[in-house]
Amino acid sequence: MSTDTLTQRPSYERDLLAQLTRRWGRRVAVKKDELDLDGHFDPGLPDFPEHLVPVFALPGVEPLDPAARRQILAAAWIAYNAKTAAIENEIILPACRLMLEERIPVRRDDVSYTALHQTIVDEHFHILMCQNAVGVTKRRRELDGLAFDPRGWAVVQGLDLAREGLSGLDRDLVEIAFSLAAETTISGFLSSLATAQDIQPMNRITVDMHRRDESGHAVVFRELAGSLYRSLDAAERALFRDALISGLAAFRAADLDPWVGVAAAGGLRIETGQLAEWASARPAPRRDTGPLQLLLDDLGIDPSLVEAVPRHG
Ligand SMILES: [Fe+2]
Ligand SMILES: [Fe+2]
Repeated sequence: MSTDTLTQRPSYERDLLAQLTRRWGRRVAVKKDELDLDGHFDPGLPDFPEHLVPVFALPGVEPLDPAARRQILAAAWIAYNAKTAAIENEIILPACRLMLEERIPVRRDDVSYTALHQTIVDEHFHILMCQNAVGVTKRRRELDGLAFDPRGWAVVQGLDLAREGLSGLDRDLVEIAFSLAAETTISGFLSSLATAQDIQPMNRITVDMHRRDESGHAVVFRELAGSLYRSLDAAERALFRDALISGLAAFRAADLDPWVGVAAAGGLRIETGQLAEWASARPAPRRDTGPLQLLLDDLGIDPSLVEAVPRHG
């Protein structure tokens, strides 16, 4: 064996995606022992952080009694999971399956195939984690009838709008760009709960397990979407960039209708218009810019294009 061969690292060691797929079995939530959800449920603790519930802060809303507040917080937790599951099911999973299609010019080898299937398994498991946690909350808080329209979230509606009238590769690119926006921003969305110390332990732990998986997905999506972007022509790149920017804006947009249902769980009647007014007056939500910056650097996209995105109420 020559010295050269001894000192040269094999190519799979230099390949980020290969490293990630090899560690999958030791890393992800689906491979861990299932959490004892009821064992981590304390009925005396709130199910959701108060400061993340806009209905309490709406002008004209009278102070609520503790029981009503508790039910609204429980409903907010159920809504949060319904939104997470909708993002997985409506945006991320379809895009993962798309990237497995021969017609999509994405990196195509055994490693990328494995990475996509691992991601699909993770995301399906995340939907199950949401469902299981919500099941416990509904039972313990007697909120059985509470349900949310999977297509009622601002980000799902944003995707519908962005792909309207498109077909073929253009439509595929918009869907993949939205999933890339999702995978770049979901960690920030999950962190707001994973780091909340005064809420239900079951909820915090569930979200934290999900968040840990997402740090791997950010790499998978950056690698795959990067390979896709580099193989596109100028017009296709422009379309992908625009869709990514729309996707990032849609993820920052406020949800309106679902909060009406959350408020109703505590006997509070509010209207969508009140929420729209609140959303237009609030400061732009804090953004987790690290993963986004890495992605834009990777794709060679000027960050000012993203900064200039108007915020949708
Ligand atoms: Fe996920
Ligand atoms: Fe993910």
